[in-house]
Amino acid sequence: MSIRTLDDLLAEGVSGRRVLVRADLNVPLDKETGAITDDGRIRAVLPTLGALVEAGAKVVVCSHLGRPKGAPDPQFSLGPVAGRLGELLGAPVHFATDTVGESARSTVADLADGQVALLENLRFNAGETSKDEAERGAFADQLAAFGDAYVDDAFGAVHRKHASVFDVPARLPHVAGRLVLREVEVLSKLTGSPERPYVVVLGGSKVSDKLAVIEALLPTVDRLLIGGGMCFTFLKAQGLEVGTSLLEKDMVETCRNLLERSDGKIMLPVDVVVADAFAPDAAHDTVRVDGIPSHRLGLDIGPETVAGFAAALSQAKTIFWNGPMGVFEMAAFAAGTRGVAEAITKADAFTVVGGGDSAAAVRALGLDESSFGHISTGGGASLEYLEGKSLPGIAALEN
Ligand code: 3PG
Ligand code: MG
Repeated sequence: MSIRTLDDLLAEGVSGRRVLVRADLNVPLDKETGAITDDGRIRAVLPTLGALVEAGAKVVVCSHLGRPKGAPDPQFSLGPVAGRLGELLGAPVHFATDTVGESARSTVADLADGQVALLENLRFNAGETSKDEAERGAFADQLAAFGDAYVDDAFGAVHRKHASVFDVPARLPHVAGRLVLREVEVLSKLTGSPERPYVVVLGGSKVSDKLAVIEALLPTVDRLLIGGGMCFTFLKAQGLEVGTSLLEKDMVETCRNLLERSDGKIMLPVDVVVADAFAPDAAHDTVRVDGIPSHRLGLDIGPETVAGFAAALSQAKTIFWNGPMGVFEMAAFAAGTRGVAEAITKADAFTVVGGGDSAAAVRALGLDESSFGHISTGGGASLEYLEGKSLPGIAALEN
């Protein structure tokens, strides 16, 4: 890879230099309290930040959080993240209450060597996500003014052609951070020549989100196990009734076509947990997939499916998993995700967990993170990497 790395930058010496780090601190927040429910993405960027602090850089961190609409929106403030980041670094993080305004300018100007600042949410500015090159560029100019060098460690956002990801590296000497390097190194093993059998587990709610990756993976994988909300569109394509389960009607034909072309590689659930409502305390039962009642909706895969998926996973030498098998946030519908995750940890295989949601599921279910080979911080990013797409954030580092 023709990309310069953090080590190259450190070798040049960064003491007293301002280093702008794009991180992905887009962590899940509790809807009621606003508390950070999973700090995995904050911890993932510590190796890069720690090395810069150690080397005496003035570290200016920027990130997005959620999807605010180009203007300040308090529920998406990075303030709480600054607090948590400071705890993890063991030193206060100076928080700027705007992104490129007066607060940001004075916070950056006041940084001493080895200190860390965090700017407010990049997406409070329309220029960050704008499709207009000039608008993005103008915002990138303002951001770039805060750094003498740029480090991209926001793997979860490398698939976004956003100002902080794509346009800032064109304006500053740029390198890949430790997290971005590690992610790319691991994922490239999956697109290279993975040891076989190579088994992929896909879940999550929408087929439409996963269509491109399914297309790209079908010729490559030995087995493709499908659970989560998206399995119902596939079951429908097999001619089954799915009650009031999630269904993408306009994708049924596509799923039928994928099943026909899949050479039997696609494995679908044989049983599912159906409930009266989408609620933690809803009455529920396990049924065969050909017996889903018309008034009930499927919220998890069933135990026989878990056993079948586990058997396939136990044979694998390489496993990639993206997307929960059911509504794991509700205890009644968590068994499928837990069962599949446990089967992955037991396999004698190189295992990669892709995605914000699946990574959060691993931790929320109390599974041992170290029993997976790699837990990616990128959901969309890891899928687009596996699709073989050019990722704007990586391409910008190559130039
Ligand atoms: C993610 O959570 O997938 C990344 O942080 C990117 O966020 P986005 O999908 O809102 O661009
Ligand atoms: Mg996303």
